[in-house]
Amino acid sequence: MPEQNPFLEGSFAPVDQEVTAFDLPVTGTLPAELSGCYLRNGPNPMGLEDAGYRWGEGHWFLGAGMVHGVRLRDGRAEWYRNRWVRSRKVAETLGEKWPGGPVHDDADFAANTHIIRHAGRLLATVEAGPLPYQLTDELETVGPSDFRGGLPGGFAAHTKLDRRTGELHAVAYYWAWDYVQHIVVDAAGQVSRTANIPAPGGPMMHDFALTGRYVVLFDLPVTFSMDAVAAGRKLPYTWNAAHQARVGLLPRPGHGETGHVRWFDVEPCWVFHTLNAYDDGGRVAVDLVRYGGPYDVSALEGKGPLTLEHWVIDPGTGRVSQQGLDDRAQEFPRVDDRIVSQPHRYGYSAAIGEVSRDTVSLSGDFADAAFANALLKHDLAAGTAEAHEFGKDATAGEAVFAPASPGAGEDDGYVLAFIHNPDRGAADLVILAAQDFGGEPVARVHLPARIPLGFHGNWIADQ
Ligand SMILES: [Fe+2]
Repeated sequence: MPEQNPFLEGSFAPVDQEVTAFDLPVTGTLPAELSGCYLRNGPNPMGLEDAGYRWGEGHWFLGAGMVHGVRLRDGRAEWYRNRWVRSRKVAETLGEKWPGGPVHDDADFAANTHIIRHAGRLLATVEAGPLPYQLTDELETVGPSDFRGGLPGGFAAHTKLDRRTGELHAVAYYWAWDYVQHIVVDAAGQVSRTANIPAPGGPMMHDFALTGRYVVLFDLPVTFSMDAVAAGRKLPYTWNAAHQARVGLLPRPGHGETGHVRWFDVEPCWVFHTLNAYDDGGRVAVDLVRYGGPYDVSALEGKGPLTLEHWVIDPGTGRVSQQGLDDRAQEFPRVDDRIVSQPHRYGYSAAIGEVSRDTVSLSGDFADAAFANALLKHDLAAGTAEAHEFGKDATAGEAVFAPASPGAGEDDGYVLAFIHNPDRGAADLVILAAQDFGGEPVARVHLPARIPLGFHGNWIADQ
């Protein structure tokens, strides 16, 4: 009998109820200026029959998406809700009518990776073929969205909003394409550009980066594998040593030859996430979390280390320099969203014991760090980092920055994350003052349920 799937156990174990709770208890004082919703998406399989979650062969990335949200207003925590995203299959399993809508190439899926708001649409997003799902402010499913027919294929989990132009950028990939697709959605929510960028070999591109001039593409040696399909892998993207690792600079519209990417070879590695990127003279700087050795996404296996790095892509020399910033095992790097594509000083990330243990084989110096649960704040100008430790059993999630006001400076605000509270067996929404990162949380909102370790979210401030 195969061993139990680690992503059905412990901190990853799915919940089986949708909960609505009002007037949540709070320890500390909720900042009155935080008016909006903290939302986070993640996989929550509906049972062992959910795609990819049978005994011994499960994959964390393939559970049906469930969005968890907490509504804050006037210093109160008004509600907590968690809702599955109603794909056709999820709706049928729940005995409901599927709301219907467009589907790309039969790839309907309960988007489980991120949640964003753009041009009035709240969208749960996922990559590799399916469309995003639009939700209401109360997290009920409206249906899949192709931006009113503007999308030719699927969308992407990760997007980058340039607040100077209001443009939302995405890079979509799909196993049946020999290209990746750069997509721009304008400030009004219309798809204003799609460009197919040749990308032979079927690379997975989970994330990318954006500067004022460029879209930064990561064509790394994790590629679609027919052998993995034949072997029954549910998410058939594996390490491919024959695939040249390279980083690409695609000029944004108005900044160079449209559709022409300049590629720069790099040493083989894997990158799930970038922190941010920006133009630095003629060069491009990008901070990211790098997995140092071969990484098999289909099995979530690699040796690591996974560390925060600063890369400089220099079109003058044709080279990419790579400098370590922090050698703790960490993931989910986030910057103040208002300065995506512009120079940043601060970054936030998470060292999550359970995630490190189940996605990389850490050894040596990394073994000790593998069971920490901490949020990290990086001051990249000073070259320092602070940790807020939560303890071994208090699994932490991605940290998201919320400014104290729309015009507040970088780092003037709060850092929000779902943290498991082992004393209650349920999650807290923990709010740290970004400028007192190691200090006591300013508030803990006590939620009525456990929240499985998941992926990405956003603070959606009231307009
Ligand atoms: Fe991600």
